[in-house]
Formats: sequence, C-alpha cells, structure tokens
Amino acid sequence: MARKFSMDRRAYLKTVGAAGTTAAVAGCLGNGGNGNGNGNGNGNGNGNGNGDGNDVIVPGTASGFPPFEYTQDGELVGFDVDLAEEAITRAGYEVGDWVDIEFDSLIPSLTGGDIDLVAAAMTITDERSEQIAFSNPYYEANQSVLVSSDGDFAPEGESDLEGQVIGAQSGTTGAAEAERLIEEGVVDGDDYRQYDNYTLAVEDLENGNVDAIIIDVPVANNFADSRSVEVAFVIETGEEYGLGMRQDDDRIGDINDALAEIREDGTYEDLVAEYFE
Ligand code: ARG
Repeated sequence: MARKFSMDRRAYLKTVGAAGTTAAVAGCLGNGGNGNGNGNGNGNGNGNGNGDGNDVIVPGTASGFPPFEYTQDGELVGFDVDLAEEAITRAGYEVGDWVDIEFDSLIPSLTGGDIDLVAAAMTITDERSEQIAFSNPYYEANQSVLVSSDGDFAPEGESDLEGQVIGAQSGTTGAAEAERLIEEGVVDGDDYRQYDNYTLAVEDLENGNVDAIIIDVPVANNFADSRSVEVAFVIETGEEYGLGMRQDDDRIGDINDALAEIREDGTYEDLVAEYFE
C-alpha cells in the first residue's frame, strides 16, 4: 500500500497540474474508477501525457464530423472515438480524457503536448507529415460537393460552381479544395466561407447562406441521411485518414500493431457496421 500510495500521489499531482488542460474536455470516456481508499482520492493517473506520463495517451478530436466524431446526449461518440480507444487500450496504454477542440487547433495541441493523439478523420498529407507523425491509414475518402436538397442548385461538376458561394471547415482538405477553386478562378475569393465546424456549414447550407460546401464523402453521406442536404458530385482526392502523434513519440509503433490487430480480428468491420451501415 505504501508503494502504491507514492505512485498514486504522483498521478494525483499530475492530474491537478493538468487542470488547465482538462477544462477543455468534452467527455470522460474510457477511464477506470476513481478513488483508491488511501485518503488521496483520484488515483487513476490522468496526466496529460507530458514528461513521464508515458502510460496515458490523451486523445483529441474535433466533433461535429459524424459518424467519425460527434456528440450524442452530451457525450462524445463515433467511429474514431471507438477506434482510438480500442487501439490505445490494446497497445497497452490508458485512455486519457478526450479533448474536443476545433480542427485547426489539433496539430498545435498535439505538438504542444496538450494531447497525445489526434483521432479526427485527419487526412495524411505531406504538409501535416512535416509537423506530426501519422499511424498507418485506417480509412479512405474523397471530397464531395454538398448542396441543399430543397433548392434548385444541382451542380454536376466544378465549373457549375462559378459565381456561387462555397464553404468548408477551416484547415481541412475540403478547405484546400475550395482554395484551389479560387486559385483556378472558378470561385471568387469573396464567395468563400470558412467554418469552425461542418455542423455550422450544413446549417448555413440549409438556410441558404451558402450554395455548396466541400466535405469528406462519408460525412456528407451522413449529413444527407439526416438533414436537408445532398451530395451533388464527388471530387476524387483519394485521401487516407491516420491517427496523429508527435514525431518523437515512439508509442506509435504499438498503436500501429494494435490497428493491425483490430483489422485482423474483425473489430474494424464491426465498427464499420455500427457507424456506416
Ligand atoms: N479529412 C479532412 C482533413 O483531414 C477533414 C477532417 C475533419 N475532421 C473533423 N473531425 N472535423 O482535412
């Protein structure tokens, strides 16, 4: 008990030290019970992954991207949430408290040590790979052009977007496609709206404040099922999603092993069935 006490106390102090970080937390998933009866309470080791907190991996995401990450009854859920928790646990680490922030803030939060792993349907790109490390790919996607299903705007290709107002979530590959259309002179720079999250973009689409948004196909399909929007056409970008970790975090090898195991034993298919079918 005495030995255990000193460890738990360290963990407790780390938790207190990480209070500034945990204020931004959306859900409390995957933690064991608190309190170990030694009078110190809270001995479950929720550090923020800095320094010696090597056994805990604090995952971060940007919700509002169903079915990968979204909130349901105030709880953070989704394909990425389950996949990341499964991978972290199988890799032999503890899942820290989820941090739910804007997509744009994920890479700075990761490199800054506030989170240890990004699970946010994040596409593996060369530019991002200069700043962070990616796991092996876990999902493939293209971009799509989403429009209102109540209006009469039904573009069949990029040139039909001429003179229209388009939108995307800041910092995404969808935003990169929007910027390309501006560069190519198809869309006017003044007709481009950037959103903190895609839920707001879809609302603007329904309200007629924007004519089209560029968004990952699987998420577009999900919105099309539940909202007054539909996919007009697809832009073949051939993207692959990866989990992100700091470049100097060698735990990524264990995460990759866990991801491979999750595929091999059918868990991956179960998750796909749960969230996409
Ligand atoms: N796959 C796209 C990208 O990496 C969009 C990801 C948006 N993810 C989110 N959780 N909002 O840029």
